[in-house]
Amino acid sequence: MMALVRSAHRPLCGVARVVFPCIWRGRYFSSGNESTENNRVTPMLRHLMYKIKSTGPITVAEYMKEVLTNPVKGYYMHHDMLGEKGDFITSPEISQIFGELVGIWFISEWMASGKSPAFQLVELGPGRGTLIGDILRVFSQLGSVLKNCDISVHLVEVSQKLSEIQALTLTEEKIPLERDAESLVYMKGVTKSGIPISWYRHLQDVPKGYSFYLAHEFFDVLPVHKFQKTPQGWREVFIDIDPQVSDKLRFVLAPCATPAEAFIQRDETRDHVEVCPGAGIIIQELSQRIALTGGAALIADYGHDGTKTDTFRGFCGHKLHDVLTAPGTADLTADVDFNYLRRMAQGKVASLGPTEQQTFLKNMGIDVRLKVLLDKSHEPSMKQQLLQGYDMLMNPKKMGERFNFFALLPHQRLQSGSPQMNACQSKPSASLPVAGFDELAWR
Ligand SMILES: C[S@@+](CC[C@H](N)C(=O)[O-])C[C@H]1O[C@@H](n2cnc3c(N)ncnc32)[C@H](O)[C@@H]1O
Repeated sequence: MMALVRSAHRPLCGVARVVFPCIWRGRYFSSGNESTENNRVTPMLRHLMYKIKSTGPITVAEYMKEVLTNPVKGYYMHHDMLGEKGDFITSPEISQIFGELVGIWFISEWMASGKSPAFQLVELGPGRGTLIGDILRVFSQLGSVLKNCDISVHLVEVSQKLSEIQALTLTEEKIPLERDAESLVYMKGVTKSGIPISWYRHLQDVPKGYSFYLAHEFFDVLPVHKFQKTPQGWREVFIDIDPQVSDKLRFVLAPCATPAEAFIQRDETRDHVEVCPGAGIIIQELSQRIALTGGAALIADYGHDGTKTDTFRGFCGHKLHDVLTAPGTADLTADVDFNYLRRMAQGKVASLGPTEQQTFLKNMGIDVRLKVLLDKSHEPSMKQQLLQGYDMLMNPKKMGERFNFFALLPHQRLQSGSPQMNACQSKPSASLPVAGFDELAWR
């Protein structure tokens, strides 16, 4: 992998990123009755109270869905929450090296799976478009490796505001975007490096071609159902209006079993679980597509392997925020259960990971890349930013251990000695180790 970086015709330039003391979204936060800094009645709170008064308490999943992606008032829909002035920061916003190494991972997988003459790069929840921008810069720099490969970019994004920011980051101003709010492809254009780019609201709408999929801090914002073990059996957690305090929400337990209980494993040993059926549906769709056409999916998020319990938390202004307070003004998130994602792949594809971010990035050559950038930068402030960014990504006490990488690959990709090829691919290749994952795990 490192040979690829070093043999680039022109070295990738350093891109200044803001590094500041802030909270990253992987912090644990016990939901419930923390003191509230901001108890105001938001339009979203009014909407939810009206809904609860009309039809009764709502599930945590319904609450998350409304608060985050309600088309009119949802947190993600109409403002930019990323970065210094926003509510949280993510790895690609911290250091350019993160996206560069992810870009190298895709090139490595494309090479290992036979250098298909064309592929789609699909990102779920691209935020500001920073990560895909860094990946496309690597693709341009390694144009000699990818030459004659027909690449297109496909972004799955529900937020109108963020899709506009992505377009500003990624596309050439002189070439106007095509827009059609009614269409499944609601925006189309051309990237700065001349690659066709399209926007969709759902993964199902992306053409089913040979693709590489990417999801960074996407699965953690999908709605979760929460369940508590009680002497009477599992009970789902709901959200209701607090009868003691006006304009306040509270958690309650369902008085009897609910249909969502079917999501809980029979041999579950924890006493509190969070299940994200939306993540399961997306993993099934990705698995079917990869099994059918080849390609791979790289998923990076904070999470656990089916061990944690209550991880539902909120972030506002780089601080933890009570999840039930001033809904619509803060991000809501829950740790990704990688064990559940693996089960949802249902053996259609092989999975690798979860592997800690510090291990994955080290295996991808972050140390060599940092050294190259440090040697090239002459400004002390730039060197300091690079070092601070590295520390944030790699330090086990910061993002190094808390964030994980997980991949879905066709079974043939991991079968040693068996060349893999599909209808779209030109040359078969013998199985090679998968970059970033230190050991191959056959599941
Ligand atoms: C936490 S941000 C992560 C952004 C970016 N990947 C990063 O790491 O900087 C979550 C992203 O997913 C998008 N998103 C949230 N729910 C979504 C959904 N149901 N479908 C598609 N995108 C969604 C948000 O608008 C946002 O772009």
